[in-house]
Amino acid sequence: MPDGSRSTVLTNIGTLVTNDPELGDGPLGVRRGSAVVFDEGLVAWVGYASEAPAADDRVDLAGRAVLPGFVESHSHLVFAGERAEEFAARMSGAEYAAGGIRTTIAATRAADDDQLAANVRRLMDESLRSGSTTVECKTGYGQTTEDELRSALVAGRFTDEVTLLAAHVPPPEYAGRADEYVEMVCRDMIPACAPHAKWIDVFCERGAFTREQSEAVLRAGVAHGLTPRVHGNQLGAGPGVRLAVELGAASVDHVSYVTAADIDALASSATVATLLPAADFCTRNSYPNARALLDAGVTVALGADCNPGTSYTTSLPFCIALAVRELRMTPEEAVWSATAGGARALRRDDVGSLRVGSRADALALDAPSYLHLAYRPGVPLVRSVWRGGVLVS
Ligand code: NIG
Ligand code: FE
Repeated sequence: MPDGSRSTVLTNIGTLVTNDPELGDGPLGVRRGSAVVFDEGLVAWVGYASEAPAADDRVDLAGRAVLPGFVESHSHLVFAGERAEEFAARMSGAEYAAGGIRTTIAATRAADDDQLAANVRRLMDESLRSGSTTVECKTGYGQTTEDELRSALVAGRFTDEVTLLAAHVPPPEYAGRADEYVEMVCRDMIPACAPHAKWIDVFCERGAFTREQSEAVLRAGVAHGLTPRVHGNQLGAGPGVRLAVELGAASVDHVSYVTAADIDALASSATVATLLPAADFCTRNSYPNARALLDAGVTVALGADCNPGTSYTTSLPFCIALAVRELRMTPEEAVWSATAGGARALRRDDVGSLRVGSRADALALDAPSYLHLAYRPGVPLVRSVWRGGVLVS
């Protein structure tokens, strides 16, 4: 049984992505002919293979590419049931409306904690196999204090990156009374759940919550020690991006419809724009204008947004392929956004890169270069995954 205290040298690497421009070429810090040593769960050494120090274990990668593990900064894994028929209806012309979320709320409320945990485990394992070594996980399909609390506790068994999506859609018992729901969230739900979460999130969108309602939820979360992130501008231009920037949110996610003023606001802020192209793919929505965001200097992350409604995939390799083909991101931008960009969105500097002191989270591809992630769409190229220096997949 491998253990994190054994040191490992990865050698004979094809291209190595470090995400440290001081270690190699371009923003990805790409190196060739290199080796990496993991020790005590961290990256202990990066350099020329010919100079690599000895380690307990030696892995000969035979020219395969090595990258930092993907950092998935946006997922909704605590749920029960599925919505394949809603997807099929959409493919025959029905439009996505956030109302489908209520179907999953009903199924989630009816499931017990063990069923919810089994679902999270299944999808976390799936994510890991496709290279995601850090995975954020949202609540949001409970929408009562009790169901959000148990969702947060279940998510916390699998990740430190728990997000309380306290206001996803007004649940059926609050139909037409969204203000009252928000009052309940701020008064009861957030104080009860905040000790078990790190982030507060809200769906600021027509059909979900208004700017004022969203702001109230985010401010209540901040008052209880949580940091905001926002679902915004998914289905139309709206106030989500501006609200996120004003409140200093770590990220605003979706961002499929933005105005020039939104882009300016993001560019002069520390808020990351997290693009979720698989959601747009599965809902036939417009893709975000990644070029305008990147060219304005906005920090962009890529997430898979795994959820049973809009994006039932855990695959960041698929999202990288979409980002390159459909969003016109360069392969380098897409790979950076799924690794270092995700880390920025989660305000983490210990993951998303491979430099001395980083967590030893990495993946090896069955390909010589990271370019193949976009060049060979749909092919399961992730061959090996290490987390904390331990081979986990
Ligand atoms: O990120 N936009 C809101 N929430 C999810 C969809 C949830 C669902 O349809 O169940 C999303 O796309
Ligand atoms: Fe989402």
